[in-house]
Amino acid sequence: MSDEKLPVVKADEGHGAVEVAEPIADPGIEPHEYRITDIDPKAADRVERQVSAMFTLAGVLALGSCVAYFAIPRDSVFEFGPLSGNANNMAIGLCIGLALFLIGAGAIQWAKKLMVDEEISEDRHPAHSSPEQIQDITEAFKQGAAESGFGRRTLIRRGLFTGLGLLGLPAVVLLRDLGPLPGRTLYHTIWAKGIRVVNDVTARPIKPADMIVGQLVNAIPANLPPLQEESAVEYQNARAKAAVIVVRIRPTEIRTKPGRENWGIDGILCYSKICTHVGCPISLYEQTTHHVLCPCHQSTFDLADSAKVVFGPAARPLPQLPLAVDSEGYLVAQSDFTEPVGPSFFERG
Ligand code: FES
Repeated sequence: MSDEKLPVVKADEGHGAVEVAEPIADPGIEPHEYRITDIDPKAADRVERQVSAMFTLAGVLALGSCVAYFAIPRDSVFEFGPLSGNANNMAIGLCIGLALFLIGAGAIQWAKKLMVDEEISEDRHPAHSSPEQIQDITEAFKQGAAESGFGRRTLIRRGLFTGLGLLGLPAVVLLRDLGPLPGRTLYHTIWAKGIRVVNDVTARPIKPADMIVGQLVNAIPANLPPLQEESAVEYQNARAKAAVIVVRIRPTEIRTKPGRENWGIDGILCYSKICTHVGCPISLYEQTTHHVLCPCHQSTFDLADSAKVVFGPAARPLPQLPLAVDSEGYLVAQSDFTEPVGPSFFERG
């Protein structure tokens, strides 16, 4: 840091003289130095070809990521010394990463070597812009566009459009990994009239007397078929959609939604365990408030008030499963859910 002291002047602001530092003198703009590309058209053409090659290569890599997606088996493994991983993911990631890098590097090279780099200085001005300033800026923008050579340097322009255009392709292709559209699959679960509610941990059907006030248990329907290797996916789908939480709340603390007066048994209520935001399983229960929290994005549902959303991004309450008691005294469903379980997104359209 310089030891040079700022010049000081005396000023009188009504309370006697105070010392005020004078503004630092404007050092001005350093003399402009021309780049090789400013004075040698061949050098400028060389850089133009480099930039265009980078943009074009980005496009080729974007296409390569799509080829890798289809050509490399999903379960193939990449090994390189101590590093290993899924070869399909690795190839897609490398291609897209390099493509983005090349677009960025090409843009930097273009700006540094070819675009006009003369420095200008402006005095500070009020934050808002006057009409004249807006007009000046518009003209400056047009001038900048002209000086960037975007219209003139067709090679770069085509390369950039090719690279950027093809970069959109992997995003579309990778949408395929989201799996088939759910259609109306979330409108139905394996719950049906008379199906017993089974404790998910003990695998025993639940009687109202098994539950004390304040308790919450995870449960599944008794008709869930046993897990078998050949039908594991169907099993997981059925189980995921039918998972429920059963909670016992003091009846005086429950605010029942009209039409659901007979959906609970002595304060025992049953709700889908699948968060209506994007489908995480929930069960972080706070018995004093009757709130259950989704760990993914903190949506909070009030189980004493038809599981309505009291906080977070979920858009609708947890679907409630109407309960009854069968002839042997076990909790059973009155029917399937009366609305789709899971993320509300799937209800759209
Ligand atoms: S999935 Fe539950 S809050 Fe997002």
